[in-house]
Amino acid sequence: MKHELKFTLNGQPYEIYIKPKTLLVEVLRDELGFTGTKRGCSSSSCGACTVMLNGASVKSCSILALQANGAEVVTVEGLAKGAELHPLQKAFLDHGAFQCGFCTAGMLMSARGLFEENATPDVMTIKEAIDGNICRCTGYNSIVRALTAVSKGEYKEES
Ligand code: FES
Ligand code: FES
Repeated sequence: MKHELKFTLNGQPYEIYIKPKTLLVEVLRDELGFTGTKRGCSSSSCGACTVMLNGASVKSCSILALQANGAEVVTVEGLAKGAELHPLQKAFLDHGAFQCGFCTAGMLMSARGLFEENATPDVMTIKEAIDGNICRCTGYNSIVRALTAVSKGEYKEES
C-alpha cells in the first residue's frame, strides 16, 4: 500500500505516493529525477547522498522518505539561483575542488549545512563538517581551500 508524501523540494511543493520503506534518496533520484544527489554506499558512510532537510544536512540514504513529510528539502539542484551559482559552487569551481565530481553534491550540501550554523568556520571546523563525506579522488585540500575562502567572505550571494 502506498502512502502520501507531501514536501517542498528546492522551493517547489511535491505530492507523491510511495511505499513506506522508500528512502529519501530513492524518491529524489528515482521518483522525481533529481539525480544531482548521488548514491554511493547506501549505508550512511560516504556522504554522496547528503541533502538539506529543514535546514540541516542529512544523508538521504539513511532516512525514510516519509520522514520528510511536511518538510523542506534542498538538493544540489536548489543551490543556484537560475544561472547564478551559489557562492559554494563558485568557490569549488575557482579552487578546482572536484575531480570526477561524484562526491561534489554531497560535499556542497554538507558545507551548506555548516555555513547555516557558522558563517566563519575555521579550518578544523570545516574538516569536521565534511568528515562524513568521502572523496575517492582525494581532493580534500582543494575542497578545504574553497570552503576556507567562503569562510573568509571571498564569495557572497548576489542580492
Ligand atoms: S549513499 Fe548515503 S552515505 Fe553513502
Ligand atoms: S571528486 Fe571524485 S570522489 Fe570526490
